[in-house]
Amino acid sequence: METVIKDLNQFERDELFGYYGGKSGFKYGIIISNERWIVKFPENTKGFPGQEKRNAHIPSYTTSPLSEYIGSQIYASLGIPVHETMLGLRGNKIVVACKDFNLNHELIEFGNIKNSVEEVENALIGSSGSSSTFQGEYLRDVLTIIDHSKLLQRVDGVRERFWDMFVVDGFIRNNDRNNNNWGVLLRKDGTAEMAPVYDNGNAFFNKRNPSVSERRVLSDADIKQDALGTNISFFLADDNSHIHPFQYIESLQDPDCTAALIRFSERVDMEAIRSIVENIPERAFGLDVISPMQKRHYIQMMETIIKRSVNPTLERLGRSPISLRGRILPTRPGGSPS
Ligand SMILES: Nc1ncnc2c1ncn2[C@@H]1O[C@H](COP(=O)(O)OP(=O)(O)OP(=O)(O)O)[C@@H](O)[C@H]1O
Ligand SMILES: [Mg+2]
Repeated sequence: METVIKDLNQFERDELFGYYGGKSGFKYGIIISNERWIVKFPENTKGFPGQEKRNAHIPSYTTSPLSEYIGSQIYASLGIPVHETMLGLRGNKIVVACKDFNLNHELIEFGNIKNSVEEVENALIGSSGSSSTFQGEYLRDVLTIIDHSKLLQRVDGVRERFWDMFVVDGFIRNNDRNNNNWGVLLRKDGTAEMAPVYDNGNAFFNKRNPSVSERRVLSDADIKQDALGTNISFFLADDNSHIHPFQYIESLQDPDCTAALIRFSERVDMEAIRSIVENIPERAFGLDVISPMQKRHYIQMMETIIKRSVNPTLERLGRSPISLRGRILPTRPGGSPS
């Protein structure tokens, strides 16, 4: 069944509370049936490196709304709490609307938590803060903060959520889980819980012209490169190099990371994930939304990650591989799973 793209133009802006941070494009709150949703627009790429040369690889607008929608739907399909999303039309642009989970101003982003843990200054490799001015965060520092923050100690499942995001972000090729892109909800009564996952707008090569995906999907080598090569994570190794999520996962060096991979393998349903992508209409309101080749590119990247990295790693762990068809692995007698 085709996904509905809703005309959001009729809904009023929330001029009192509908204001949000972030550096990747215009966004504001609108009210839909008494609920506040954030409209996130595609980011204009003027000023991006290479754009002034009219580099054909860089589109005039990013595909962030599409990336946010698909990435968030994939998180939901895995049973990981994530903000609710829908594709829509606002003005004359295809946007993503994300339901606001922070009506009571309870969100404390990880960067703000990190700022507060002054006690561990000597144990950190990097500086304090949100690291929003430099492109990366030391993985070791994140784990140190998780261990030492008094606030995080009161929250269930912080490590699990961090590693779940590490694995799923790798899978959806989201390279921007920066310190403002995850956090906890601190209630007025002092209790706290993990916030739902938000900001998946950098997944699936959102700054790349769809025509590049359409060309690269024709080559196995290019698909493999897009799946497991180029796109790194936001996190840094001690030597300042960016961590490749699946190289790190394959190394089995962190038991919490390995546990997250196993959770992923138990929950992932490739048929459901393919439907999320395939059900998006190619055009709506006279605008391009996603091309058939772009869909193929996204799906083949994810399938390649499973075939070439996740399944071999699961095999080394003595676990069942993920079926590329659906959730239940068809085991053929005497044969290896397809
Ligand atoms: N569904 C949501 N409910 C409530 N607050 C949200 C939601 N999604 C995002 N926010 C808040 O709005 C801020 C900006 O949103 P988001 O991170 O999606 O924007 P961005 O411009 O893509 O960010 P970045 O600078 O990381 O690229 C977030 O840091 C968070 O504080
Ligand atoms: Mg953000």
